[in-house]
Amino acid sequence: MVSQEDVFKKLIAHSKEYGFVFPSSEIYDGLAAVYDYGQNGVELKNNIKRYWWDSMTLLHENVVGIDAAIFMHPTTWKASGHVDAFNDPLIDNRDSKKRYRADVLIEDLMSKYDEKIAREVEKAAKRFGETFDAALFRTTSPRVVEYAAKRDAIHTRFSKAMHDNDLVELRQIILDYEVVCPVSGTKNWTDVRQFNLMFATEIGSTADGATKIYLRPETAQGIFVNFLNVQKTGRMKIPFGIAQIGKAFRNEIVARQFIFRMREFEQMEMQFFVRPGEEMRWFDHWKNFRMRWHKTLGLGDDKYRFHDHDKLAHYANAATDIEFEMPFGFREVEGIHSRTDFDLQQHATFSGKNIRYFDHELNESYVPYVIETSIGVDRMFLSVLAAAYTEESLEGGDSRVVLRFPEALAPVKACVMPLVKKDGLPEKAREIMNSLKFGFKCVYDEKDSVGKRYRRQDAVGTPFCITVDYQTMEDESVTLRYRDSMQQERIPIAQLFAVIDDAVNFKKLFKHLM
Ligand code: GAP
Repeated sequence: MVSQEDVFKKLIAHSKEYGFVFPSSEIYDGLAAVYDYGQNGVELKNNIKRYWWDSMTLLHENVVGIDAAIFMHPTTWKASGHVDAFNDPLIDNRDSKKRYRADVLIEDLMSKYDEKIAREVEKAAKRFGETFDAALFRTTSPRVVEYAAKRDAIHTRFSKAMHDNDLVELRQIILDYEVVCPVSGTKNWTDVRQFNLMFATEIGSTADGATKIYLRPETAQGIFVNFLNVQKTGRMKIPFGIAQIGKAFRNEIVARQFIFRMREFEQMEMQFFVRPGEEMRWFDHWKNFRMRWHKTLGLGDDKYRFHDHDKLAHYANAATDIEFEMPFGFREVEGIHSRTDFDLQQHATFSGKNIRYFDHELNESYVPYVIETSIGVDRMFLSVLAAAYTEESLEGGDSRVVLRFPEALAPVKACVMPLVKKDGLPEKAREIMNSLKFGFKCVYDEKDSVGKRYRRQDAVGTPFCITVDYQTMEDESVTLRYRDSMQQERIPIAQLFAVIDDAVNFKKLFKHLM
């Protein structure tokens, strides 16, 4: 059986080979945790962004968008708490001189017990066959119960240490469970220290006395500082939302899992401003809407779950993550947070401005509460890619790799191909391509056998291949081949646009959402 780790390696190799994701500045050996999107990757990414943007700003008349600058006044980050508290706990191994996140070392330790449990369950499932009851086995197998108890004991200590910001206890867990450095193999650990994740740079010339500024670590603050601008110029009435897509930067120390944890990444965030006291209703509303948004793509309902936070940040009164089953387990793709009035209050205090809303219905003014939905474009990209990647054995001993993207997200919608490179077939194919290209991203391919051309399109997830043959020249019909079923049918050229449009446009997804 192929392990999930092998599948993930293949996925990374495939995404590079077919122009989805490249290591940044690869000719110089790359830059850790920074990636570039290639010709197919950028199309997929843009489609994901469009699905999100339109679902927010078209489907909700009380949600509008902005595009704030990456650079912001440095006081923004003092007010938001990022200067003082946007930290990771780091620990060094004195022998290898390698630096690690202490929390990640402990999470890895817990994952080892999870993996051991999973292996036991898998072995037992094979042994007992169809009658196997995994839930019962987990509570009765002495070995599984012992592993689970060990894991839970670590988890309890770990959660408390993180909550109390107890760096000594974090180190003690690492020592007590004899965690070794993966490079040196030793337990020679330094103390744990806090490390701020923001990238700093300078604005202005040094002669003028340059000012230290930060690359934004989240897009949300650009929305908070523009609350009054948008509310007043847009004559927005509470409840209303402001949506934004943009780059964010974090100096992540643990760079791994491909585009899951990056130093430069993109977020799609929406802050929804509500009356104080109504935030829980809106939290539930957005929680459900966001899960529906994910599931509507059809990647598999069982691949998603909520993970409610039991320990909340001091400014939040509810928080949940939407997790997706990546090849390396369930991981956070999106966070939904009820952030109270913390951010607006902080900006009011630090700027000295009166950031309030006058509610004509209530005849009173207040600082609105905020529900935030925050999703990483790159993590969404990874989840779509991972769910789409399929290796299939075909009849006759053949095989194919196919990316079963939701049609609306596919980078290329159709490939037009003449059966042969003569007798006017290429010209006819070009004519069809020219009529389709106003609606969809299409490619033209006349090289190699039709079978090989189909495989190339399967590998990038193109839902339709259109073949022009001699019959086309007689009756204006073509062969339309479907990516997933590989079925082919003969259809008139005049119907092509409508057939493709029906499958790939976002309308069906949006109707399902509302
Ligand atoms: N404004 C709230 C906020 O930024 P977050 O949980 O830190 O919350 C939100 O980030 C989302 O941004 C995450 O759910 C994830 O999808 C994405 N994200 C965060 N850090 C990331 C990183 N280093 N690389 C890629 N995506 C990241």
